[in-house]
Amino acid sequence: MVQPQPHSDALVFFGATGDLAYKKIFPALQSMIKRGTLNVPVIGVAKAGWNLDQLKARAKDSLEQHGGLDAAAWEKLSSLLRYVDGDYVDPATFTAVRKELGTAQCPAHYLAIPPSLFEKVVEQLVASGSAKGARMIVEKPFGHDLASAQELNRILLSAFPESSIFRIDHYLAKGPVHNMVSFRFSNSFLEPLWNRDHIESVQITMAEDFGVQGRGAFYDQTGAIRDVIQNHIFQVMCNLAMECPARRDSESMRDEKVKVLKAIPAIDPKDLVRGQFQGYLDEKGVAPGSQMETFAALRLEIKSWRWYGVPFYIRAGKNLPVTCTEVIARFRRPPVTNMTEDNTPQNYMRFRISPEMTVAMAVSIASDTGASRREAVELVASRHPRPEEMEAYERVLGDAMAGDATLFARQDYVEEAWRIVDPVLKAATPVYPYDPHTWGPKEVSPTIVPAGGWDRPQSEEAEDFRVVSDSA
Ligand code: BG6
Repeated sequence: MVQPQPHSDALVFFGATGDLAYKKIFPALQSMIKRGTLNVPVIGVAKAGWNLDQLKARAKDSLEQHGGLDAAAWEKLSSLLRYVDGDYVDPATFTAVRKELGTAQCPAHYLAIPPSLFEKVVEQLVASGSAKGARMIVEKPFGHDLASAQELNRILLSAFPESSIFRIDHYLAKGPVHNMVSFRFSNSFLEPLWNRDHIESVQITMAEDFGVQGRGAFYDQTGAIRDVIQNHIFQVMCNLAMECPARRDSESMRDEKVKVLKAIPAIDPKDLVRGQFQGYLDEKGVAPGSQMETFAALRLEIKSWRWYGVPFYIRAGKNLPVTCTEVIARFRRPPVTNMTEDNTPQNYMRFRISPEMTVAMAVSIASDTGASRREAVELVASRHPRPEEMEAYERVLGDAMAGDATLFARQDYVEEAWRIVDPVLKAATPVYPYDPHTWGPKEVSPTIVPAGGWDRPQSEEAEDFRVVSDSA
């Protein structure tokens, strides 16, 4: 049984002058203050030659640019902020961090820095006495392949128990991603059908209508498979495929997800098509002639009693026609009888994760063009995110500081996820060009296509979410 955890009494974030802090962390900290969940010192650490006033100016600018500055919350955040400037390999930096921690007994150290620096930082946290009783929050990417992830785990676990390590995958903190699990297990009609007897195929699309947005140097070392498939999309897939956990605690949830991954054989390179949008090679930071993929479509199998023989299709890419993440699970066709024809539309369930949350069910109804004809309509529940809803980074930071690991990737999970993609990362399969704002290279069609074709997600859904009754 998982025991209640003490709340972190300080937050130290490494990489305080970086892009992630600017876009996500400062806005998340302000939201936590507004919600009353942050009231401990927040110590930014970076090597930038800055002082505290410069960090505060950056934080203020970040809030103004990302969601808006709330005067009262900013005043409070400003009073909590501290800053340590220094090299991550210099013991003096960590002596200064220790000093800023004061009497804190259970600090949370958030590593928003490249993984190549983890080992030095962990060593110095231990040597300076800042690791005792501490939690480690670690940004993605967690490794580059299976071997490097195992090495990162070795480094972290040499100084911290697994229960104190929080590997971020911000997708897990998105309400609609969590909704897939609650929807599945709180509606009695779906679960009896949610298996190989009734589902023909599942497809998951994560499309973005923008390119690498100035992150060429990072992206060129990463690519679509490492950037979003091995982590974000696999988490979505696990939520779709897992069994109902025996208990609600973090370990029971995470056990079920790991079981899904364990049942997936490593992807065969012939089940993958990679693409690169035209113009990628001109992006700043991209190596000449780079073979890095900005698009990938693949097929995998889950060899479990529930899913054996049901192909899972995954597709992700930059510079596609829309920005959205969507799942389609197609049901097997009804038999052809006096009442149906062999072109009767196929039922499917559609879960849309972003930009809106949608759950839709496609059903066949009699068409008004003829008594024997059927047409497909969707029963749709869809809503846009509400302003008061928690953003993913607010949730992950709040949960990690509260010691709740449910929304974080466990050691065995990340290693299983890397095992599945490892062979295709090493296979150097061809990278086919595609035009920006299309659905990837034409080479996808002959090889990696679900029966019935790929989903063509639309850019925006109308709001249509009628609450008939709620369970409260
Ligand atoms: C990040 C990837 O983890 O997730 C980005 O590095 C991607 O490339 C982003 O754009 C998508 O997340 P969200 O929350 O903006 O949909």
